[in-house]
Amino acid sequence: MEKKLEKIKKHVTECINCELSKTRTNSVPGKGNFKSDVIFVGEAPGKNEDMKGEPFIGIAGKKLSIALENVGITREQVYITNIVKCRPPKNRVPTEIERNTCKNYLKKEIEIIKPKIICILGNTAFNSLLDGKEIIKFRGKLVKKDNQLYFLTIHPAATIYNQKLTTVLKKDIKKLFKLVTEVKDKKEIKIDIEYTS
Ligand code: URA
Repeated sequence: MEKKLEKIKKHVTECINCELSKTRTNSVPGKGNFKSDVIFVGEAPGKNEDMKGEPFIGIAGKKLSIALENVGITREQVYITNIVKCRPPKNRVPTEIERNTCKNYLKKEIEIIKPKIICILGNTAFNSLLDGKEIIKFRGKLVKKDNQLYFLTIHPAATIYNQKLTTVLKKDIKKLFKLVTEVKDKKEIKIDIEYTS
């Protein structure tokens, strides 16, 4: 399992499949515990992530860490990744072409880790993975699609200047890990939205 992830990491590091490879400093593969029950999926690396080649290490990452620590979880215990693995110039939203070009990396990360729940952080991940819009209206919900569970919450960056949203993120992360425990205990859980394909 670890070896397979290392292989993806190498591919991501060397990837030149889209224009973002020309402007990046480093590509940013997913990072964390390959045995994690949860994969967190953000949008794309920002400036700090691009400099260091690690996901969620800037202010948004700090916000995510705080929400995790609030329920006694460290970053190292989970797996964190992004829809797009290279920084879009000026942190613009990645285009559909960039997202599509990058999507196989995430697909493989998910196949290898087989998380109990994928936690979608913000609109870009919501749109890319579930074709959704306006996560603020759907946050806190549990979704099932193709036998995979997804939990929806806001992007941690949204909490930077908004104390109310900090509380929302903490509340959602708490619910997420309660759901994970219930799934592991094989308890009956309430699915809020089910996609049928
Ligand atoms: N925002 C993201 O969506 N991902 C990161 O890795 C950092 C900030």
